[in-house]
Amino acid sequence: MIYIRNDKQIEKMRSAGALLHEILGKLAEAVRPGMTTAALDAYAEELIRRAGATPSFLNYRGYPASICTSVDDVVVHGIPSDSVVLTEGSILSIDCGVELDGWQSDSAITVPIGEIAPEKQHLIDITRQCFFEGARMAVAGNRLGDIGHAVQSLAEKNNYGVIRELTGHGIGRNMHEDPNVPNFGEKGKGLRLKKGMTIAIEPMISMGSYDIMLHQDGWTVSTADGLPCSHYEHTILIGDGLPELLSFPSFSWEEYLSTLEN
Ligand code: MF3
Ligand code: CO
Repeated sequence: MIYIRNDKQIEKMRSAGALLHEILGKLAEAVRPGMTTAALDAYAEELIRRAGATPSFLNYRGYPASICTSVDDVVVHGIPSDSVVLTEGSILSIDCGVELDGWQSDSAITVPIGEIAPEKQHLIDITRQCFFEGARMAVAGNRLGDIGHAVQSLAEKNNYGVIRELTGHGIGRNMHEDPNVPNFGEKGKGLRLKKGMTIAIEPMISMGSYDIMLHQDGWTVSTADGLPCSHYEHTILIGDGLPELLSFPSFSWEEYLSTLEN
């Protein structure tokens, strides 16, 4: 079932998104070498609950934490742990979801730990740009394949791999709703997008092959070749024009598009 949100529902998703944006900003600021991912998770849960919201990930299908912390070759769903200490030179994806007043928001960023190699920074930058290239296509009348194609084109132009077995998703009252939103595809193919749909676009881009493997813990997904992977995600609202980034309220398309031209 794919829902079209009304103004009241959109307002609630805006509130959830704004809160999540603020929390991810604070988490990114707190990250430093020597910190454990469990400490970052504890801080995330505190921030979420202090705001009167609920951590969407905690207990979701048995998931044991409020964020996913995925270091270097971990693609997604890294479980925060006392035994994972962040070290200089790594990249960390922080994925977080909140439920506020019955509505969900889901967003992920990848941040450097201290000084990182330029190749890793490039991977982070292109992954972020893959998101925006995909999001630009998320316009009423376009199709899901237009989003996937845009993400895939930029990634592959940079000789990166697009993770195929994991996708973005519809989001609303539930964190994961229809449709799946793949990061690859063909222009003009797939579901037609309509004004009022809310989806999470989340490119997972690897420095090598897109093959992945699932760890024994049943959650952690890493690249099969052990090369680093980056992740970037926002919850967005589809309208007639460019989409509204619900989990990035301060974002301006005008500003973004002008940086591309220069
Ligand atoms: N942002 C993640 C996603 O959309 C959600 C993490 S799954 C959880 O796939 F189980 F950890 F909650
Ligand atoms: Co998601």
